[in-house]
Amino acid sequence: MLKFIIWLIAAAVAIALLAGGIHLYRVAQKNKAEMAPYAGQPETLKRLPGRTLVVYYSLSGHTRDIALRIQKLTGADIYEITTAEPISTANPLVYLKIRKQLKKGEYPALGGKLPDFSKYTTIFVGGPVWWYTMATPLYSFLQQADFQGKKVVPFSTQGSNPGTYFADFEKQAKNAKLQKSAMFNNLPEKYNQAVENKIISWINSL
Ligand SMILES: Cc1cc2nc3c(=O)[nH]c(=O)nc-3n(C[C@H](O)[C@H](O)[C@H](O)COP(=O)(O)O)c2cc1C
Repeated sequence: MLKFIIWLIAAAVAIALLAGGIHLYRVAQKNKAEMAPYAGQPETLKRLPGRTLVVYYSLSGHTRDIALRIQKLTGADIYEITTAEPISTANPLVYLKIRKQLKKGEYPALGGKLPDFSKYTTIFVGGPVWWYTMATPLYSFLQQADFQGKKVVPFSTQGSNPGTYFADFEKQAKNAKLQKSAMFNNLPEKYNQAVENKIISWINSL
């Protein structure tokens, strides 16, 4: 009996490892195909999108990296969305708590005042995908923000699946003149130049 249980556990672990490996392989292949058009020579920015603000929320730095690249390219001002209480995913149970909060529409109090949008013509707004939608602090921010006819350019970062992030963003972004969005998967360093090219061709297309 004990032998059978050990065998069963070993089989379950092997299946889980195989499924994980197949998933990672598929994501890597998808990333390779998606980034192929942006490989090669550095692209150049053809025109700036007017007086620009980059607003972002980032828990582990991926969205910050994209936001800083946009800022550097456009000479924009930058505003980081923060929460009154720090959020940490060190305890894996936090993932489930966040899922519950998203289902119930419970969003965290923000750590600072909203920026003054009146100075800008274009506002990039980015954040991570959490449970196939926007991160809860981004919901908090959008609940308070009124874009009053400003051009708003949404972007996201995610593992591989943005879910309904952009549809949800559109529903929440009050009075925004929404522009073309862009999503950025978390990629290994070898894609650095391709990511830069993707950002530049996205901004050129706005
Ligand atoms: C609570 C939580 C839920 C997540 N859910 C998703 C998801 O549904 N789809 C996905 O592709 N990535 C998901 N991720 C991964 C993040 O979207 C991804 O790592 C993102 O780039 C993190 O951005 P940041 O470093 O700016 O916080 C999740 C991460 C967290 C913390």
